[in-house]
Amino acid sequence: MGIDQRRWRWWNAVVFIGMVGVTGSNSQEKQKQVVSRIAFGSCSNQSAPQPIWDAVVDFHPQVFIWLGDNIYGDFKRPFKIFGQERTVGPWKNVPRFVPSSEQEMKTRYEKAKSNPGYARLQQNAEVIGTWDDHDYGLNDAGKEFHGKITNQKLLLDFLDEPQDSPRRKQAGVYASYMYGPVGRDIKIVLLDTRYHRDPVGSDGTILGNSQWLWLEKELKGPPTALTIIGSSIQVISNLSATIRPLFAMESWARFPKERDRLFKLIADSKRAGVFFISGDVHFGEITRYDCALDYPLYDLTSSGVTQSVEEVVPHFLRSFVRFVAWLTPSTMRVKDQNCRYKSCIYGQTNFGTIEIDWDSHPVTLKFKVRDKDSIMVTGVDVSLMELQPSNSEVLDRAKTEHNNSKHCTLEVSLPWIVRHRLAILFFSALFVLLVVFVVLVYTCFRFCRLESCKRKHD
Ligand SMILES: *[C@@H]1O[C@H](CO)[C@@H](O)[C@H](O)[C@H]1NC(C)=O
Ligand SMILES: *[C@@H]1O[C@H](CO)[C@@H](O)[C@H](O)[C@H]1NC(C)=O
Ligand SMILES: *[C@@H]1O[C@H](CO)[C@@H](O)[C@H](O)[C@H]1NC(C)=O
Repeated sequence: MGIDQRRWRWWNAVVFIGMVGVTGSNSQEKQKQVVSRIAFGSCSNQSAPQPIWDAVVDFHPQVFIWLGDNIYGDFKRPFKIFGQERTVGPWKNVPRFVPSSEQEMKTRYEKAKSNPGYARLQQNAEVIGTWDDHDYGLNDAGKEFHGKITNQKLLLDFLDEPQDSPRRKQAGVYASYMYGPVGRDIKIVLLDTRYHRDPVGSDGTILGNSQWLWLEKELKGPPTALTIIGSSIQVISNLSATIRPLFAMESWARFPKERDRLFKLIADSKRAGVFFISGDVHFGEITRYDCALDYPLYDLTSSGVTQSVEEVVPHFLRSFVRFVAWLTPSTMRVKDQNCRYKSCIYGQTNFGTIEIDWDSHPVTLKFKVRDKDSIMVTGVDVSLMELQPSNSEVLDRAKTEHNNSKHCTLEVSLPWIVRHRLAILFFSALFVLLVVFVVLVYTCFRFCRLESCKRKHD
């Protein structure tokens, strides 16, 4: 155990004891506590087993953030997802944090007995969230979806939002939260990428006017040490640019004007320590873009709690999926020796974690995507110093250097052959198969004719 780790444990113990000491702590007191462990997840089929929660609970998150597709409400009966089915039963918020088996429950109980803080923290974990399309009510839907008013109520019920919350009165589920004391404060901004969104391809709006005004106020308001912006869809990666025409994904990059507006707003706000978290894509990855601000903008993607790209293919094809992931070019993905797979994409169930070491100098952030056993599959350590806007020459020079690095190249500016190599490979393979098929058919035909000729002669 390193010094840092020991200090960390000690600090944890102080927080625990502090928490236990506060009887009936209300949410205001809770919000003043230092937050150093945040977890998040998305894409969770309420009818499927969800073993990953054991790992999430064992991580001891102080805040857990749902990033959308928190349930699949549109699965059976699109357009008819409201009613009892959606608000009761196993997919209510709280039971998600109940251990999966009796054995696990017992282990937990034993642990809790020897460390009173353990149980306490679980009760103290704040659960917040936003939605994506499947809990909004319809696959890939935007502002046109007519079930949105009813479903907003259902999402807020799911999140145990107080009945008198202003969030129940606004159009859309966007919200912001503050945690921690001054100097160690974290603002979490959760966007609604559905309620006001124009059709994909329109290059229109994602957030809509009222949400933009709100976001501007949030970002230009008092500074905080960290600002986490939660978006259901990816902000930095433009996967569509490299996998078209085979597939297309929803993302901020599909709305280039809107995305530039977001980056400009963050830059204008001069806020330090801003980064994104996202879900939606059924795999986990970490991306960064170095040319939006004068510091790198990270996007931690975790998806999903149950849904994953590898699970939908038979076992023997999973290496092939990993190969395709590796082949897919990306200029933004953070690649590291420590990734589980070469591509640094993780296509099995996962959750994301943010650990903040407030006591180190400078403050460090550990971004991780973890598997169902809580083992890191991709991650990066970032010093909070790196996430500071500055006009100093040193930073300008660093910026120019960064500009030459690949995290500054948009996917659409990649050379054609690189950008489309997946499609080229796919269509080449298809072509080869077609040729083989034609040759086979022709050979058969020739062979049969020869045979029938022979028979006639006989
Ligand atoms: C959710 O899980 C159930 C049970 O395993 C399955 O029947 C259903 O197809 C799944 N839904 C989705 C959207 O994956
Ligand atoms: C992302 O890719 C799509 C599809 O190729 C393209 O239309 C869009 O402009 C790209 N966005 C950015 C920000 O490069
Ligand atoms: C990076 O370089 C491009 C052109 O090569 C330029 O337009 C852009 O402003 C530069 N960005 C930064 C942050 O220096």
